[in-house]
Amino acid sequence: MTQTLTIRRPDDWHVHLRDGDLLTGVAPYTARQFARAIVMPNLAPPMTDVAGVAAYRDRILAALGPDSTFTPLMTLYLTDATDPDEVARGFAEQVFVAAKLYPAHATTGSAHGVTDVANIRGVLERMAQIGMPLLVHGEVTHAEVDIFDREAVFIDAVLAPLLRDLPELKVVFEHVTTREAVDFVLASSANVAATITPQHLHINRNAMLVGGMRPHAYCLPVAKREHHRLALRSAATGGSTKFFLGTDTAPHARHLKEAACGCAGLFNAPFALESYLAVFEEEGALDRFEGFASVNGPRFYGLPLNEETVTLERSGVQVPELIDANGTGIVPFHAGERLNWRYLG
Ligand code: NCD
Ligand code: ZN
Repeated sequence: MTQTLTIRRPDDWHVHLRDGDLLTGVAPYTARQFARAIVMPNLAPPMTDVAGVAAYRDRILAALGPDSTFTPLMTLYLTDATDPDEVARGFAEQVFVAAKLYPAHATTGSAHGVTDVANIRGVLERMAQIGMPLLVHGEVTHAEVDIFDREAVFIDAVLAPLLRDLPELKVVFEHVTTREAVDFVLASSANVAATITPQHLHINRNAMLVGGMRPHAYCLPVAKREHHRLALRSAATGGSTKFFLGTDTAPHARHLKEAACGCAGLFNAPFALESYLAVFEEEGALDRFEGFASVNGPRFYGLPLNEETVTLERSGVQVPELIDANGTGIVPFHAGERLNWRYLG
């Protein structure tokens, strides 16, 4: 049996690094495992212009210190008022590599998001022209749509029509959670790819609701039924180059999750590779982990593959119940569990 696994250093194509003291507390966990990460712009206030994103990038680099080799790949937060010229300028100046579409009120920090994609039509046309990826939080927000159906409805109501109109637009369907999303991505052109989180590979909605309400299993999009989880596992481990690693690590202080209105988001950065690797091992697909973690993402974004390697060994690791992130107590994904692999660096 394989006792160690060495692969090209992976990248994380979807992270929330927050800001201020929390940034300092959480960013080292991502930088420890990954060479690069797509940093989401849903801060308060959101990162809606070139200067703001550039300043945030500098704060991330400062938080990690001069010895870090980690590269934050920045993103712009789209609003109804985003100017296409600002988008093109930031992309040309390499301040950001993509823009994020949050439907207004879909998730944490999305209050300033887009109320109707028709409002950003000019921005999307420009992005299609210049080859800039659109990163999509794929959920509708209409009150009448059940929360477990919001991703599937988004495909029919928003994403499919958008790609029919702008087939050359590059789209990453972020943190897919349904069989419908997997099927849609597989049936789409090479311009459409998706990230998959570790939690959506490990848990279905029972984890949130059986035996009591479990806020540390609550994230958005919310975990779905078991058949969706199985579709995601097939997608991630099946060898398609359209799916790649994006943890959606989304740290919230423990008291903000264990509350009457608990925040959405799981903190999975500290043991991200160990978590994914458990899934690939269970699916008999260890040989496909490098493609998912280290190759498919950079190929889609048109970036070079990382040259250095990382090694994991089959010795196991105990996940703590609580992590102190520079003064903020956060319950990590898999808290209190033992995972089979250990990241060595
Ligand atoms: C994210 C967050 O907390 O920023 N929360 C989450 O549940 N995933 C936002 C997001 O990616 O939806
Ligand atoms: Zn996210």
